[in-house]
Amino acid sequence: MPPDLRTRLGSVELPNPILTASGCASSGRELAQFIDVSRIGAIVTKSVMLAPRAGRPTPRMAETAGGMLNSIGLQGPGIDAFLQRDLPWLLSRGARAVISIAGSTVGEFAELAARLSDAAGVTAIEVNISCPNVEHRGQVFACDPVDAGAVIEAVRARTRYDVPVFAKLSPDVTDIVSIARACVAAGADGLSLINTLLGMAIDTDTMRPVLAGLTGGLSGPAIRPIAVRCIWQVSEALPNVPIIGMGGVLTGRDALELILAGASMVSVGTAIFHDPSACARILRELDEELARRGTERVSELVGAAHDVRAAGRRP
Ligand SMILES: Cc1cc2nc3c(=O)[nH]c(=O)nc-3n(C[C@H](O)[C@H](O)[C@H](O)COP(=O)(O)O)c2cc1C
Repeated sequence: MPPDLRTRLGSVELPNPILTASGCASSGRELAQFIDVSRIGAIVTKSVMLAPRAGRPTPRMAETAGGMLNSIGLQGPGIDAFLQRDLPWLLSRGARAVISIAGSTVGEFAELAARLSDAAGVTAIEVNISCPNVEHRGQVFACDPVDAGAVIEAVRARTRYDVPVFAKLSPDVTDIVSIARACVAAGADGLSLINTLLGMAIDTDTMRPVLAGLTGGLSGPAIRPIAVRCIWQVSEALPNVPIIGMGGVLTGRDALELILAGASMVSVGTAIFHDPSACARILRELDEELARRGTERVSELVGAAHDVRAAGRRP
């Protein structure tokens, strides 16, 4: 019998735990020439905002050792075009659609949630709180438990009861567990860990910053140990809260590492840029990893690395 890969995204069942990561596959359309978008667990869309946005100036990508920096900014068509064009396309392909939202005020997040609640076919909402709060001196929502909780409470209040709300957290904090607790207390059904880390690169020939936006988000294999640590810490503190894990997953084995740390789903981001069929490949490799171990259900391994310590075996 092949391993049972079904997993729960809050109240919703997914056929398997491999998802795209927000911002790395737009709204799924570009991936369709490489993979069957209905075969992976879900497509997580690029964060959508209320109004169309052009994003930040170029250059806005830079390769670094073991990863990349991006300062795309939240480029996108805005919620109206998204609902008219992108969501219907995803649904017509039989994909499950997790919609990532971003805003500059609590009210903008709430408005986006309300708009999505009126639309059919939204599997879940992922709330990207790694954005500056213009009502709080530009402080990033995800770096403050009160601000993070305020966004999640407003989104949960405006979202249909049967649509799970996941809060996506930033690793750029001293105590990620306190932010996770605040989001769960405010009504988050699950957590997505981790967004990129703020980084910077300088071109030693021109002696200038590489990115026009100066700083950018670091992603890729370089950040996987940080993702594992964050997932581990949050899963240890909140063992019953579902986690979508992400950060540097390139192979099925990497996905398994995040699952063992406590993620019940895994998003694939940067890997897609050099292998557009990465999600399908990683799904196949995960299946093989489980089969090789004789695992019947992937759910058995969620957080299994914690049990090793509890059982008093070698940590
Ligand atoms: C080019 C690029 C754009 C991204 N855009 C978003 C975004 O719009 N919203 C979001 O929540 N995360 C965004 N992310 C972060 C990813 O979803 C993911 O959390 C992060 O890259 C770590 O996963 P990875 O190492 O597999 O890429 C973006 C990442 C990259 C590389």
